[in-house]
Amino acid sequence: MRKSLKQPVPEKRSPTVESRVALKRHPLHPILVVYPIVCLSLLLPSDLVYQWTSDGFWARLSWWLNLIGLASGLFAAVFGMLDMFLIRVARRHVSVWNHFVAGVMLLALAALGVWLRAADPAAIWPWAVVQSSLCLLMVIVVGWLGGTLTFGHGIGVYDHASKDYGVDDAPGE
Ligand code: HEM
Repeated sequence: MRKSLKQPVPEKRSPTVESRVALKRHPLHPILVVYPIVCLSLLLPSDLVYQWTSDGFWARLSWWLNLIGLASGLFAAVFGMLDMFLIRVARRHVSVWNHFVAGVMLLALAALGVWLRAADPAAIWPWAVVQSSLCLLMVIVVGWLGGTLTFGHGIGVYDHASKDYGVDDAPGE
C-alpha cells in the first residue's frame, strides 16, 4: 500500500526542459500548430477534388485553407521561435535548426500559394497543385522534426527532475 500521496518517481528518466511560453506549463506552440497542420495538409486533397469535379466550392475551400494555414502558421511560429531562443539547451540540438528551416520553407510555400491563388482561386493547374503537393510534404517533414524535439529531446515537456507533482498532475504514471 502507498505510504504517501506523492507520486512514485522512476529512478531513470531522460532529461526534459519546460517550455518558456506555456499556459499552466502546457506549451503554446504545440497547441497552435494543429491549425496550420490541418489546413496545409488538406490543401492538396481539396485541389485534387476541384480538378476532378470542377466544382468551384473546392477551389474556394483551397483558397481559405491556404490563407488560414499561412496566418495560423505564422502565429504558431512566433511561439516556437520564442521557445527556441529562450531555451539555450534547445538550440544545441540540430533538429531545432532543421525544424526551424523546414518551418520557414513551409510558411514560404504557403505564402507562395496565397500569391498564386489570389487573382483567381480556380486557376490552380499546374502551379498551385505543385505548391499544395510540396506543402503536404513539408508539413510531414516539419511535424516529424517537431516530434523529434518533443518526444526525442524532451523540449517543452514538464521538467520532471526539479518539480514535485501532485497526485493527478504527473504525466504517464
Ligand atoms: C518556423 C519557426 C518554428 C520554430 C522556431 C519552432 C520551434 C519549435 C520548438 C522549440 C518545439 C518544441 C516544443 C516547444 O518548445 O514548444 C516545436 C515543436 C513542434 N513544432 Fe515547431 N517551430 C516552428 C514552426 C512550426 C510550424 C510552422 C509547424 C507546423 C506547421 C510546427 C510544428 C511543430 C510540431 C508538430 C511540434 C511538436 C509538438 C508536439 O510534440 O506536440 N512548428 N517547434
